[in-house]
Order: sequence, then structure tokens, then C-alpha cells
Amino acid sequence: MLSFILPLLLLASPVIGQNTSTCPTLPSAITYASNAKLPDPFLPLASPRLTTKSQWPCRKEEIRQLLQRYTYGQMPPKPSSLTASLSGTSLTITAKEAGKTMSFTVTLKLPTSATAPYPAIIAYGAASLPIPSTVATITYQNFEMAADNGRGKGKFYDLYGANHNAGGMITAAWGVDRIIDALELTPAAKIDPKRVGVTGCSRNGKGATIAGAFVDRIALALPQEGGQAAAGCWRIADEIQKNGTKVETAHQIVNGDTWFSTDFSKYVDAVPTLPWDNHMMHALYADPPRGLLIIENTAIDYLGPTSNYHCATAGRMAHEALGVKHYFGFSQNSHSDHCGFPKAQQPELTAFIERFLLGKDTNTDVWKTDGKFVIDEKRWVDWSVPALS
Ligand SMILES: *[C@@H]1O[C@H](CO)[C@@H](O)[C@H](O)[C@H]1NC(C)=O
Ligand SMILES: *[C@@H]1O[C@H](CO)[C@@H](O)[C@H](O)[C@H]1NC(C)=O
Repeated sequence: MLSFILPLLLLASPVIGQNTSTCPTLPSAITYASNAKLPDPFLPLASPRLTTKSQWPCRKEEIRQLLQRYTYGQMPPKPSSLTASLSGTSLTITAKEAGKTMSFTVTLKLPTSATAPYPAIIAYGAASLPIPSTVATITYQNFEMAADNGRGKGKFYDLYGANHNAGGMITAAWGVDRIIDALELTPAAKIDPKRVGVTGCSRNGKGATIAGAFVDRIALALPQEGGQAAAGCWRIADEIQKNGTKVETAHQIVNGDTWFSTDFSKYVDAVPTLPWDNHMMHALYADPPRGLLIIENTAIDYLGPTSNYHCATAGRMAHEALGVKHYFGFSQNSHSDHCGFPKAQQPELTAFIERFLLGKDTNTDVWKTDGKFVIDEKRWVDWSVPALS
């Protein structure tokens, strides 16, 4: 019986963004006391701790604004003109703003057996996990948006200018938002825009996490081996490094890559002064509730396995407070091939895809690791799951 009811419930749930137009805007100057622990997702900058679920949308908007200001750069709204054209398996999206034009093309691979409109997974670059034959794949060349070598180069900057402060990660999330606009405009593409997931591995695992965190129309994110900014927290990574294991830290990332805004460089040597950490990015999936399955690898120290486990565990406390603990899964497995997909993780991948893209009543209560961590959550978290009315 449940399996018949659930698809209807899933479709009826509000997967569009909340109206945050009446939320306070971020003050121009923020004072935040240094905090070595992971900040409380339920404590807004200016007001007391949340007591009701209805207060969450504005806090969520505040977290998104903090992430943009401190780390990713601004994600522009939908451009004033957006059109899409389908030619065979190519969907071309054209955006215009202030006299400038930009186009990019994604490639569709449709299921051969299921019935249209199909659910789909947007793959950054190419999927490095198996996508079932009942789900379409949308291949997205995210580095066209922002070149991976050289700041301010790429199609996003053709539209918004080379000096725009967006780093590569948020430009790619903006592109995901535009792909969903295009699917909504193009029924002939045979894809259901309400059942679209996103995946990517390594730096694209960060990208997939960030896209789902900023785009409420993403129904499921499947980030794979993204390490920090996907699963892990900057504060914990810094401590791993201090303890003598080389890991990707905030300091390393702004100096090595163009994925984040240059503004992040002001904070990377003072991470405890950030009024957020990446567990709060996980929290952005909790309401409206969307699926998030973090797939990680315990065999690669550079990914910061301990940070990933502890950070996600803190992130899931937000899901618990909002009553959707089982929407967030975590699976960490030891294997030597970065971005390989071990069979051991297949059951949870199947369960998440079936529940969030195929409307089946599967069990997504998954929290597993083969890491031998000393679990010390209190070391990082000094707040508790609030009882929100
Ligand atoms: C959001 O709320 C404001 C204030 O109530 C209203 O003026 C606006 O039309 C709403 N926007 C949407 C998209 O519903
Ligand atoms: C760093 O080392 C200390 C002392 O051994 C330990 O208590 C702590 O858990 C370590 N931190 C991380 C993030 O591994």
C-alpha cells in the first residue's frame, strides 16, 4: 500500500524554493566570535535560536548568503532571457543578460525501457557511478562554465563579466539551475524536471553537493569522493593537517584552484572565524526535503575521512530537527581507486535513486563507514538537536 501512496506524496511535496523575499538581508559587516567548534545551524546571526520549523526558510537563506559572501561568490538569479532548443540528444540553453548572450549544450541519454517523462541525473563531466537504465543521464560539461585553469574564463563570465566574484563551483551550480529551467521549457526532452538528481566525483563531487545545496529543484544529490566542501568541514580538516596528515584544507584550496571566490582567501588562515562550516551546507537539503547520499572513501587520507564522517554527522542533526533524518545518507568505503564505485555501496545508491527519483518506498536510513574512527562528536558539536514546533 505504502508504495502506491509514496510517489504521490513525493510529487506533492514542495520541491520549489521557499519565498524568502521578506527575510532580513545579511548585514554588510558581520561580527562573529571565533568558534573552534562547528557553528549551530539553528542560531541565526542576529536573533535567538530557532524554535519553530517555519523560521527555517529565513535561516536557510542566511546560510546561503553566508556561503556566497565568504566562499563561493554570488550566484546570479535566473537571467532576464532564457531559451532552450532540442536537436536530437542535444539540449542547447541560451541565456541573455544586459546585452550579452551565452549558450551551452548538454547531452541527453534517455532510458530505453521506462515510460516518459523520465527522471534524470545531471552528471558533471561524466558519471562515475552506475546510473540505472530507467533513469536518463544529462551530461554537463561544467568546466565550460568556468575554466578549471585561469580565473574569470568561461561561458559564465562571457555573460556576467570576467571580474564577477563567482568561483567555478557556484558558476556550475548556476548552470544546473539553468538546465532545469530548460527542461521545464522543453517537454519534448521527455524529462521530468521535478525528478532531477546531480552527481560528480572528486572536485565535481564538491560541485554536485554545492549545486543541490543552492538549487531546491534538485531532488537528489549523489556526490562521490568530494572530501572537504562536499562531505567534510574546514575546521576538522585543519586539525587533521595539524596532526600531521596531509589533507585538502581551505588554505590549500584557494591557493591552488579557481573553484572558490577570491574573497575566501581572507578567511582560510582563520577558519574558526567563519560563521558557518560545511555541515550547514548539508542542512540546506533538509527543507524543502531533498535526498542527499554522500559517497566517500576511507582509503584516501587527502579526502579527510575523519572530517567527512564527523561533519556529515553534524549536518544530519539538522535533518533530524526538521524530521527528515532518512533523507540524508552517508556511506564510506575503503578502496584504492579514487572515483571507482565499489559494489559494497550499490545497495544505498539503489535505495536513494529509487526513493527520490523513481518514487519507491525504499529504506534510505543509511549511515555507514568502515573507518576505525574514534567517534567524538562532542569535540566538534556543542549544540543539540532542537525540538522545533
Ligand atoms: C513573496 O512574498 C512577497 C511578500 O509577501 C510577495 O510580495 C511576493 O509576490 C512573493 N513572491 C512569490 C514568488 O510568491
Ligand atoms: C588530532 O590529534 C588529537 C590528539 O591525538 C586527537 O585527540 C584528535 O582527535 C585528532 N583530530 C582529528 C581531527 O583527527
